[in-house]
Amino acid sequence: MTVSELAIRGGRPLRGRVDVKGAKNLATKAMVATLLGETPSTLRDVPDLSDVAVVRSLLEVHGVRVEAGDEPGALTFDPSGVESAHMEEIDAHAGASRIPILFCGPLLHRLGQAFIPDLGGCRIGDRPIDFHLDALRKFGAVVEKLPSGIRLSAPEGLRGASIHLPYPSVGATEQVLLTAVRAKGTTELRNAAIEPEIMDLIAVLQKMGAIISYEPNRVIFIEGVDTLRGYDHRSIFDRNEAASWASAALATDGEIFVGGARQQEMLTFLNVFRKAGGWFDIQEDGILFRRDGELKPVVVETDVHPGFMTDWQQPLVVALTQAKGRSIVHETVYENRMGFTDALVKMGADIVVHPHGLQDGPRRVARRELEQAAVITGPTPLHGADIVVPDLRGGYSHVIAALTAQGESRVSGVDILSRGYEKFLDKLTALGADFDVIR
Ligand code: EPZ
Repeated sequence: MTVSELAIRGGRPLRGRVDVKGAKNLATKAMVATLLGETPSTLRDVPDLSDVAVVRSLLEVHGVRVEAGDEPGALTFDPSGVESAHMEEIDAHAGASRIPILFCGPLLHRLGQAFIPDLGGCRIGDRPIDFHLDALRKFGAVVEKLPSGIRLSAPEGLRGASIHLPYPSVGATEQVLLTAVRAKGTTELRNAAIEPEIMDLIAVLQKMGAIISYEPNRVIFIEGVDTLRGYDHRSIFDRNEAASWASAALATDGEIFVGGARQQEMLTFLNVFRKAGGWFDIQEDGILFRRDGELKPVVVETDVHPGFMTDWQQPLVVALTQAKGRSIVHETVYENRMGFTDALVKMGADIVVHPHGLQDGPRRVARRELEQAAVITGPTPLHGADIVVPDLRGGYSHVIAALTAQGESRVSGVDILSRGYEKFLDKLTALGADFDVIR
């Protein structure tokens, strides 16, 4: 059943345990990689999310047989019957997710052609695909833009290329990896993204027989091979979900043990969490998060890895409304990722968004026009309000704000959360949240 609206009564700390599974942003890409293998693959710890369902369904319309694996959360993918899908079947996925763009390289290798429907994903800026298309053209693909999507062909096959990304884009790096592994010759990728989910995708591809070396300074070399086999892989944990629950513990003054969270991939988040007045205990099977006295203001800047992820800032901003003093959050990755703060202001927060950013300081990647900054002054008591979820991480922060606020809030559009938070309502219940499903 899809739930779209909640009545949430706040003011109660969230306490208890939640478990995070495989990362959405690895699992979906590893699923696409199964198209490249000659034999079946098994992916473990696959989260039950709508983005995963979209990718599964697109694989199925292309003839991949997807079945439950040998343990809960495992899926097997048999690509032996891969074939061209009918346009209408592909069209049914238009606007549902951005991940289908990654089908391009694998489908071109298998079938010599690909059709990708009009893409969706969160409404966080334009989210263009120019880096993807430019890279595919360098591999020798012919790209035709149609009103309903993109048609690609590779009349002479795909060959290795030298590619320098204008920005270390996660998706474009994955596009290059998934295309280069079976292209003829060597590919050199410069200014690559190096997020842990990308390193895990490289591990998946290596298990399949790919030859990929990761050099210093964001350089990746890929030597194309003729065939790849299937893989058996357990996905890296979802560090975005783990950080979300950590911020929820901070905002509501609760205590949450996040099973499956690991320190290594969250080092930068943990530093900021600590500076904001959080306390954590790293344990064998997860991390325990709570407050350590009063919350403190922080200055953070979202960034590519190993910086502070753009997906971590929204739930943290809710906690910062309760910190004593002025915090600043610079968003440098997307151009429209502060819209969610309007709802927090409606609930009583003091947040001023500077649409062109605030400072010219040094950046890991060159400063871009799209920067924005939010100045959050606290502590401000939050009160219940009627709010509409704008996107995945912004929506999560709205729910957490409603749980932090005094009184009742109506939060609509919560179905978006099923894109990135598995069993979200069950987890809220387990943590003692007080809410009703309205519809
Ligand atoms: C991935 O998006 C994630 N999504 C995002 O998580 C995450 O926020 C983002 O990486 C950054 O870590 C998935 O993995 C499915 P990008 P992606 O390409 O790959 C610009 C979530 O909530 N750009 O690294 O689409 C782009 O506009 C989601 O889980 C171009 O200009 O992100 C942005 O400003 C939301 N042209 C920047 O690069 C292009 O062709 C980074 O985007 C591609 C990107």
